[in-house]
Amino acid sequence: MIAELLIENDKLDIPCHLAIIMDGNGRWAKSKGLPRVAGHRKGAEAARSAVESSIKYGVRYLTLYSFSSENWRRPIGEINDIMGLLREYLLNQINELDSNGVRLRVIGERDNLDQDIKILIEEGEKSTKSNTKLDLIIALSYGSRAEIVNATKRILNNFDLGLIKPNDLSEVLFESYLDTAGIPNPDLLIRTSGEKRLSNFLLWQLAYTELVFSEVLWPDFGEPNFTDALYEFTQRERRFGEINSLRIDEN
Ligand code: IPE
Ligand code: IPE
Ligand code: MG
Repeated sequence: MIAELLIENDKLDIPCHLAIIMDGNGRWAKSKGLPRVAGHRKGAEAARSAVESSIKYGVRYLTLYSFSSENWRRPIGEINDIMGLLREYLLNQINELDSNGVRLRVIGERDNLDQDIKILIEEGEKSTKSNTKLDLIIALSYGSRAEIVNATKRILNNFDLGLIKPNDLSEVLFESYLDTAGIPNPDLLIRTSGEKRLSNFLLWQLAYTELVFSEVLWPDFGEPNFTDALYEFTQRERRFGEINSLRIDEN
């Protein structure tokens, strides 16, 4: 029902950039008496479904929080399981992403990743570079504070080289040093599993993003939950600090 409404009514706002904190894999597995890795495996399937739904409903940029800087603090066995699934995803999915017009981009500290995964990412980014249907941005070994500090370091470095003067610094210039340079800020953020926090995700970029929190655990998050969240977004009034509702398409 909501799905039809979203497809048929082109006046409804579809978020141009959707960001998702895919949380609850461990609890999903626990509730079924399974090891945590089973939750991560089912979670990877839910991620594939989110990519399909994004294409179907016309989302242009999808950012998936897959592994945070702080997730390196987890037991090594779980980290290896997650990296193994990521390796599998990259090996099996790049061709399909490419044939569906998806451009792959990865943000985060990729130096921390295994060499073979780094190569798979580089190859995937290169082979899908000219696709324009959907940008799939995977946040991997990503932490917003680290991203902001790294951006600042590079700005200071360019200052040392005489390429930037203090007065050149602006919000626009600063953004161009973030991992998300060139990508519009998210319009909608979904976090699953009932947790209501940002966990160091896109702190700069989410300044005016609409937030939707779903109780559903990520492995169970399917198309109906996706369209519910999109529908909730259509009901929001975005103001960006102004008095009246300001819709970008009316200006
Ligand atoms: C999200 O699920 C996946 C990652 C953080 C890698 P969790 O593993 O955090 O699952 P919960 O929060 O323990 O249920
Ligand atoms: C955030 O989830 C990171 C990802 C979903 C990849 P966490 O499960 O790591 O967040 P906290 O620890 O509950 O804040
Ligand atoms: Mg969690």
